[in-house]
Amino acid sequence: MDTASNALPPCAGLRIGDFAPDFEARSTAGPVRLSGFRGRWLVLFSHPADFTPVCTTEFVALARETAAFEARDCALMALSVDSLFSHFAWLRMIRDRFGTEVRFPIVEDPTLVIGRAFGMVSAQDSDSATVRTTFFIDPRGVIRAMTCYPANLGRSVPEMLRILDGLQAIDAQGALAPANWQPGEPMLQSPTQSLDEVFDAEDATSWFLRNAGGTR
Ligand code: BEZ
Repeated sequence: MDTASNALPPCAGLRIGDFAPDFEARSTAGPVRLSGFRGRWLVLFSHPADFTPVCTTEFVALARETAAFEARDCALMALSVDSLFSHFAWLRMIRDRFGTEVRFPIVEDPTLVIGRAFGMVSAQDSDSATVRTTFFIDPRGVIRAMTCYPANLGRSVPEMLRILDGLQAIDAQGALAPANWQPGEPMLQSPTQSLDEVFDAEDATSWFLRNAGGTR
């Protein structure tokens, strides 16, 4: 591995628009294969380690919002380097302590083979935990968005749902989601690519900055 590659952060390997690499692995919900989720949205996310404080809060928060992901036809799948039996013990602790059952699959990746394929760990690390990487994968298996948080900052479940809502609205409406967009709010039209339409527009911005559906 050369020096330039060593400097690559996690998330650097795959890009938006790539097909998610397929894998088959053991999980807390039995054997899973990524391609088995085709036809639905999938949020695949890594966490640094079981039995750690921030990760525990994330799993409780996500498990409590499982129905919100289901309502968006989206499955959840988690992954870390910990063994299947560590995952089981952690989920038992979470249920006993928080009264919440985590039923979405948590994949074991002790050899980091999946984490490396997804850029969830640096390629040269042999013992590194995966960081908080999240891939939003569409029903065709294409990566549509990804986020990467450090170990000491927990993800926002409302923001994960907003990303899903935004991607689904973009597909349904063929429109663009502006800053701070929330479901039900206006979306934007793609700008024209015609100079004639630029010159014919009623003002200097309406050819590139206008709401979808014609409102301003
Ligand atoms: C946590 O989940 O709290 C955590 C995990 C790894 C490193 C630091 C914090």
